[in-house]
Amino acid sequence: MSNNNLFKTKIGLIAATVGSAVGLGSVWRFPSEVQANGGAAFLIVYIACVFLLGIPVMLAEFSLGRAGRSDAVGSFRNLAPGKKWWLGGALAILTSYLILCYYMVVAGWTFEYMWESITGNLYTGIDAVSDKSALFGSKMQQYINHDTNPLIHTFIIIGINIAILLFGVQKGIERLSNIMMPILFVILLGFCIVSLTLPKAGEGLEFFLKPDFSAITPSVIIRALGQAFFSLSLGMGVLITYGSYFPRDTRLIKTSVSVSTSVIFVAVMMGVIIFPAVTSFGLQNATLNGPTLVFATLPQVFAQLPAAQLWSTLFFLLLTLAAVTSTISIAEVSIAFMQEYFKMSRKAACLVVLLPLLAFSSVCSLSLGSLSDFTVFGFTIFDFLDYTTANILLPICSILLCVYVGWFAPKKFLKDELTNNGQFKSHTFRLIIFIIRYIAPVLITGIIVYSLL
Ligand code: PHE
Repeated sequence: MSNNNLFKTKIGLIAATVGSAVGLGSVWRFPSEVQANGGAAFLIVYIACVFLLGIPVMLAEFSLGRAGRSDAVGSFRNLAPGKKWWLGGALAILTSYLILCYYMVVAGWTFEYMWESITGNLYTGIDAVSDKSALFGSKMQQYINHDTNPLIHTFIIIGINIAILLFGVQKGIERLSNIMMPILFVILLGFCIVSLTLPKAGEGLEFFLKPDFSAITPSVIIRALGQAFFSLSLGMGVLITYGSYFPRDTRLIKTSVSVSTSVIFVAVMMGVIIFPAVTSFGLQNATLNGPTLVFATLPQVFAQLPAAQLWSTLFFLLLTLAAVTSTISIAEVSIAFMQEYFKMSRKAACLVVLLPLLAFSSVCSLSLGSLSDFTVFGFTIFDFLDYTTANILLPICSILLCVYVGWFAPKKFLKDELTNNGQFKSHTFRLIIFIIRYIAPVLITGIIVYSLL
């Protein structure tokens, strides 16, 4: 692999990996999971899951990618030639592609909301109605369940992805992450400050940060584990692919700790932003599930602040940035595969991967509009993809990865990767391998079984 296919700087490498991890999972899914699963209790279990399981599995992916020096399939083939382990990589690529189909659509909504905030349309008519939540609910219907609007914005997001990814790893992904991630952190910080100065901030913070240990139930643990895996971008070949772009002297353990703490930091900041806002504006009883929280509840909060349009634009810009740095990483999994396996040029690989999404993502989007009567096992196509990928395919890929790395990979491989061939000592090595061998596969199997019950 040529040097152009490695990340150039340490900062860039971390920015790109954090960029992949910090996405709609942390800014959109996390607060609603906290709300639904006992507040601070969920937060604690989530943090424990990230450190205990997330970091070891992340290290398994990084090691596999850096030692295999190829895409998700190629890395398995290089390390286990003639064996069938590459099928695990193939499943990861398939899963990542399925996720991409609907993630592009949600990214399209964020873009649409940003645009509607800039133009002010999102807030037109607000003074005339008393039931603000009905107003924003119906606006959300109009933006999301409409046929053409979401399609246009999904296409714009696909176009943005093509434009970035054509530039490759260093000039596309790394350069963009270097610019976008600091902007994202600054916007988040700005919102934290505003939220903490709201009148009833304390009440919201209490819910988010003061744990009630009796609220920790098996279901909370399983959902926190699912959230940890999703928010760290595990089980989809993304970190194998990015690992293959890590230079030999990258310290994997340090990197995984930096990435994970950044993800937790963003999630905590999101909580600090949302819960004080929700209590201060008396919206606790609004239905705070996934889409509504961000797309219908928050605009009500913004509407009550001075300069509503400005806050709203900044917030949806933040969401769009977070979403795009994640979509490019998911798309990179398939692009790297096409380049390595079929020896395609970068350009051909980008187009072959992304152009079909114009059709696939459209079907996903329409499945919330005029195709909503068409269902698979009772789910719309959109929900079916979301459910099967997050609850079934991602965990299966992670189990295959842990079983391979823990039990079947060349003996010294993980130790060599974690210590950069013995250049420095790693005291945590034994613990990490123990988790990868025993704890991770058992607990992840738990998630699958529980989610199917
Ligand atoms: N981690 C991303 C998020 O939180 C989602 C993602 C999953 C991205 C897997 C890449 C791979 O939104």
